[in-house]
Amino acid sequence: MTDLDPHAYVEDRSPGTGRLRPRAAFATDLPTIALDGDWRFRLASGLDDLTADFAAPEFDDSAWELLAVPSCWQMTGLPGEPRHGAPAYTNILYPFPVDPPRVPRENPTGEYRREFDVPDGFPASAAVLRFEGVDSAFVVWLNGIRLGDGKGSRLTSEFDVSAALRPGRNVLAVRVHQWSSGSYLEDQDMWWLSGIFRSVSVAARGVEDFFVHAAYDHTTGQGTLSVDVAAPTRVSLSVPELGISAADPAGPHVIDGIEPWSDEQPRLYAGELLSEAGERIPLRIGFRTVAVVDGVLTANGRPVSLRGVNRHEWHPLTGRTLTEDTMLTDVLLMKQHNINAVRTSHYPPDRRFLDLCDEHGLWVFCEGDLETHGFEPGGWRRNPSDDPAWREAYLDRAERLVERDKNHPSVIVWSLGNEAGTGANLAASAAWIRRRDDSRLIHYEGDWASCAYVDLYSRMYIGVAELAAVGRGQEAPTADPADDAHRRALPAVLCEYGHAMGTGPGGLSEYQQVIEAHPRLAGGFIWEWIDHGIARLTGQEEPHSFYAYGGDFGEEVHDGNFVADGLLFPDRTPSPGLVEYKKVVEPVRIRVDPATRRIDVHNLHHSRDSGYLDFRWTVEDGGDPVGSGGLTVPVTPAGATTTVAWPADLTAALDAARKNDSGHEVWLTVTAVLAADETWAGAGHEIAWSQGQVVAPPASPAPFALVPAIVHDGFIALGPARFDARSGALTRLGDLELDGPRLDVWRAPIDNDLLSAFGEPQADAWFAAGLHRMRHDVLGVEPDASGLTVTARLAAAGSSCGLDVVYRWTVCETPHADQARLRLDTVVTPDGPWSVPLPRLGVAMSLPGTDADVEWFGPGPGEAYRDSRAAARVGRHRSTVSAMQVTQIRPQENGNRHHVRRAAVTTPGGTLLITGAPVIDLTVRPWSTEALAAAAHQHDLVRDGRLHLHLDHAHHGLGSAACGPGPSAPDVLAAVTTAFTVEFGTSR
Ligand code: GAL
Repeated sequence: MTDLDPHAYVEDRSPGTGRLRPRAAFATDLPTIALDGDWRFRLASGLDDLTADFAAPEFDDSAWELLAVPSCWQMTGLPGEPRHGAPAYTNILYPFPVDPPRVPRENPTGEYRREFDVPDGFPASAAVLRFEGVDSAFVVWLNGIRLGDGKGSRLTSEFDVSAALRPGRNVLAVRVHQWSSGSYLEDQDMWWLSGIFRSVSVAARGVEDFFVHAAYDHTTGQGTLSVDVAAPTRVSLSVPELGISAADPAGPHVIDGIEPWSDEQPRLYAGELLSEAGERIPLRIGFRTVAVVDGVLTANGRPVSLRGVNRHEWHPLTGRTLTEDTMLTDVLLMKQHNINAVRTSHYPPDRRFLDLCDEHGLWVFCEGDLETHGFEPGGWRRNPSDDPAWREAYLDRAERLVERDKNHPSVIVWSLGNEAGTGANLAASAAWIRRRDDSRLIHYEGDWASCAYVDLYSRMYIGVAELAAVGRGQEAPTADPADDAHRRALPAVLCEYGHAMGTGPGGLSEYQQVIEAHPRLAGGFIWEWIDHGIARLTGQEEPHSFYAYGGDFGEEVHDGNFVADGLLFPDRTPSPGLVEYKKVVEPVRIRVDPATRRIDVHNLHHSRDSGYLDFRWTVEDGGDPVGSGGLTVPVTPAGATTTVAWPADLTAALDAARKNDSGHEVWLTVTAVLAADETWAGAGHEIAWSQGQVVAPPASPAPFALVPAIVHDGFIALGPARFDARSGALTRLGDLELDGPRLDVWRAPIDNDLLSAFGEPQADAWFAAGLHRMRHDVLGVEPDASGLTVTARLAAAGSSCGLDVVYRWTVCETPHADQARLRLDTVVTPDGPWSVPLPRLGVAMSLPGTDADVEWFGPGPGEAYRDSRAAARVGRHRSTVSAMQVTQIRPQENGNRHHVRRAAVTTPGGTLLITGAPVIDLTVRPWSTEALAAAAHQHDLVRDGRLHLHLDHAHHGLGSAACGPGPSAPDVLAAVTTAFTVEFGTSR
């Protein structure tokens, strides 16, 4: 590379040349020419393959193909074969040698051309060309005139086109390089995708910029509005609702009786800037003040508790190019799931997303387009964050972040970026932001030890014990007491926790309890919002669709399905993790105690009282509704708890249910739903709920009149059951053909078993102990006058440890032979020095079928595990085996129904009844555990003609170990002597 090199901008550290200074994104009534649509496109393999004369207006590009702008070029052709390059996924590693600022000469480069007309009357002499997102570096010519070049993929670049734009036909030529020095600053954990992926436009130039300062004083109820305007002509401000009509927007204008903006009541006042030249700029003003008070994060004088998510921009077909509809879907889904905050990990989002956050109400941590994580494996050697040569690039990114988004009331925190180590350039960026905007706080996790340039103590993936210590202000000291004192005065946030990869995350309730117990803890953001799976089709004649992850495009280095760690599946279907999170972070906590006839409502909102909710009660007897009604809940202010007057009709319903003595459990459920439509959900949408048990399950009747086991030729009969005389396996119950049940301790490892951020993955120890290849060896089959005893040992080849198991089968006689219940008492005794927990402990069996209706009484309707079960409510649920499968992108253990009391699995061959004594975990799948574990994608799973039933005494917890802690101690399934019981029956 020499100074004369026309491509020097690709590798130099400069953030760009010829760009206009950054400014706010805003709407205006001045004309704009949208340049989205089809452009001519050619993908060059590198700098040695560029098209000569490409930028010349007369260049003939008619043979080039058309490519949509905006788009990521690697996503073209999907879900079939990608036409231009291919997506590549790495978490930390750069997919090229780390030799900053150099990038490979083999550097895919998109050549884009587009003609457009400038209509009569368009002010061509005062206009800008705007790119809202180009990944990663580009150079632009208009009518053959080079306007400049730019970097900063997720940041806006504007060029002055007054000297180049002309009325009539214009030709725009843009060269986009996949790799550039900027790539070193954009090592976010996501797919590497390139191109003009956000909108392009030409806009008339009028008001240059403005900064709305709208503060709220909670002690007086006053708002103070001041708008700093940069414009070539005079500009006035009007906010009719507030009676403001001012020649001087800067005011300050002090207004009484302001309704402040918050996530819960995102009050926006409509205003307008009007320039002397006639330009009108609509404003949406939200008054709010963010502050740290006594170490607590506050807004408008009230503590803020962030129930947040980290959001990457993702769509399975278009990558990081999103429509406004998709953005709206995200915002609505967040609001509908009680989420009140979003961190725009790890770059500023499409500007329209922030408009939606303002409108519907989400606290935003707006993050800079910055990550240099790939320097960590090299011990942070040559990390740009601390290299003066990169200072300008850092400041440029900070400036463009703040300037574009500074007018959004939803943005309460600027985040410098993510995982970029520490260094002077970060400190300088923070200092610049502080000077420019002292109304917001500054966040950056990488500086957590000293917190030298941030306002929040931010951590990721710490466990609950450490979080509680942070909450108490007792986190581990550093070598510098001054740092410690400074840090301990700051509010703390979990910028990432609850890694939502695969089945899980577990333990969210524990985190939330700790967060709510300590005012210092301002809450956190789950990692992350959506799985970045890419929609693909298999190559077969009848293709199957599936979601691709790292490695599926033949990448040399990649991080597999670590890219699929969201609360939403790629098609935006909520995962069980999101359903759980909604319950865990419900902003109104209801406590129901039927025994003492008490219902408490605790309002955890920031500032909204409970008046917008309707409360209802329902009583169910064995799952059948036997009464319901409304509850009059006194309007409960934010932060307060009220006790609700117990209604007479509820007492009557409970008394009736008790008297009815149905022999079933009776439950009271109280729900809080929207009383009226909100912008983000309709009236009736459920916000919170709680249950209390009114009548406990009846105790299992003591066995009486047990029937004898009768030995036949090759089989043993016990009442309606038949067993294989040699293996002791149950082969038939009534008319139903069965196989099993046998002790089973293996589960298809979940991502949290297979990966570990700290230490050895759990599954490694399981594999070493041979838990995935345990053999069931029958030692004895002994019929007797009151039942059948089968003894066996489950052990792995080469291992001296085993699980000794005794199955005791009995049948109680009842007056009706077809109601006979087959009872299995299983006692498991570990033999040898067991040092590993068990993945699961239960029995597995199968019956013929490819699908079945499943009905159960117990928690549901969704998947639940011991450390992820807050969202499951006790009742009667119906589903099918197909619908009970949770289609994780990488197949793994899923779909458990927790603490089932009784279930009926109905196949064409008959119905198998299962009764827990008192409860049992139930999983049913149309494939085996082995097949599930072996599958890399959903389409690898093929129904094998049997329904595989798992009846588990317990599971090992899910935890969040793929990136974070494993299950907490109470959720570890230790190998200890265990007895459990399950009963079987049939019905036609
Ligand atoms: C964090 C990082 C995220 C993501 C996550 C794991 O360390 O900030 O970008 O990589 O880990 O999924």
